[in-house]
Amino acid sequence: MMSDKIISLDLSHTGLAIEKEKHQEKIDQIDGMIKNKTGRGSDFLGWLDYPLTYDKKEHELLKKTAAYISENYDTLVVAGIGGSYLGARAAIDAINGLFPKKVEIVFLGQTLDPDYVHDALAHLKGRKFAVNVISKSGTTTETSVAFRLLREMCEEKYGKEGARKAIVATTDAHNGALLKLSEEEGYVRFVLPGDIGGRYSVQTPVGLFPIAVAGIDPTAILEGSAKAREDLADPSLEKNDAYLYALARHLLYKKGNFAELFVTYKPQLVQLGEWWKQLYGESEGKEGKSLFPMSCTFTTDLHSLGQFIQEGSKTFFETIIDIKTPHNDVEIPFDKDNLDGLNFLAGKKMSFVQSKAYEGTLAAHSEKADRDNIVLHMDKLGAYELGYLFYFFERACAMSAYLNEVNPFDQPGVEVYKKNMFHLLGKPGY
Ligand code: PA5
Repeated sequence: MMSDKIISLDLSHTGLAIEKEKHQEKIDQIDGMIKNKTGRGSDFLGWLDYPLTYDKKEHELLKKTAAYISENYDTLVVAGIGGSYLGARAAIDAINGLFPKKVEIVFLGQTLDPDYVHDALAHLKGRKFAVNVISKSGTTTETSVAFRLLREMCEEKYGKEGARKAIVATTDAHNGALLKLSEEEGYVRFVLPGDIGGRYSVQTPVGLFPIAVAGIDPTAILEGSAKAREDLADPSLEKNDAYLYALARHLLYKKGNFAELFVTYKPQLVQLGEWWKQLYGESEGKEGKSLFPMSCTFTTDLHSLGQFIQEGSKTFFETIIDIKTPHNDVEIPFDKDNLDGLNFLAGKKMSFVQSKAYEGTLAAHSEKADRDNIVLHMDKLGAYELGYLFYFFERACAMSAYLNEVNPFDQPGVEVYKKNMFHLLGKPGY
């Protein structure tokens, strides 16, 4: 299905027959809550207009600093967890692919695993690395522990003054331990606005600084998000595909589905699935409600979970990202012996073979297995389109959570493990 839309929502492979006019009033009411900031958690709606209102001076500094880092270092360590790293990781993989580019990006601060941390630090010993520590609160254990180690390493490697040049901090403008430390040390500092939660922050310096160091145009991400904001301004279900997607997944949830399976056909979009899972899982999974967000990469996972999807319990539906045009393509060669019997594909492009796998799988899952398949068609996925996609899902998520009558912007459940862990670790006050 080709369209001039950047994302085109296709519900024709679901059993849904949505009577849009029946739901429009509810959608309008929630849209009003979002725009007028009157719903639960409305203090965290800064992301809504951020693609237009962002600080242009800070954005220039971000690009200049990113250029300095990529010219002077071979590696950037991104220290952050949850919303403070998933968006950057998703974008860098999606645009740059999975094989090393000019600047290597290493992620730390997203785990307490000693082996991972040890191995990453050992790897960094041989690299000329810079650090972007990202934490809104400045007190997240995983990130703070990693940064303590990284800072010590930087100071040993480059000296105190050199470390100051190699460390960039992204944190709240007014509060937190990281702000205080950054001010004292004089690190270059970027702001995660107080009214934007981590999982809605990929379009802020949280995502954009690592993205820019990786050689991806951060302005294109913002421009794509701004275009999505414009396209999604009208709440009419005839025009607003993000709201229609939110409604469709809500109706599929009400129909008895337990989970939504986010499907792509690109290994380099595995991390986009991780970002999407956090966005929906942390925004909606509360008060005993909501769809469990899962992800798969086809055709890889057709050889593992494919069996379950085809014939297992019917408690989930699929949402598939179908990207027509790859960044690059590969032609399948002719082989004179044809022992593998593949000459019927000789001269064909990998993209052609993959498109047939997509069509065949869609038919297998939606027709034969009678599973609901939502498809989001995209012509291509560059930085601009990715910015559009991020905003599309953020806007849909706010609508979807409000349809479920939960606060899209808090995460009270995350505190429970932290409190137990702090108590067990003997943190003062716990
Ligand atoms: O989405 C969120 O708000 C969370 O996932 C946070 O981003 C995550 O917990 C990290 O928090 P902080 O940036 O304060 O270190």
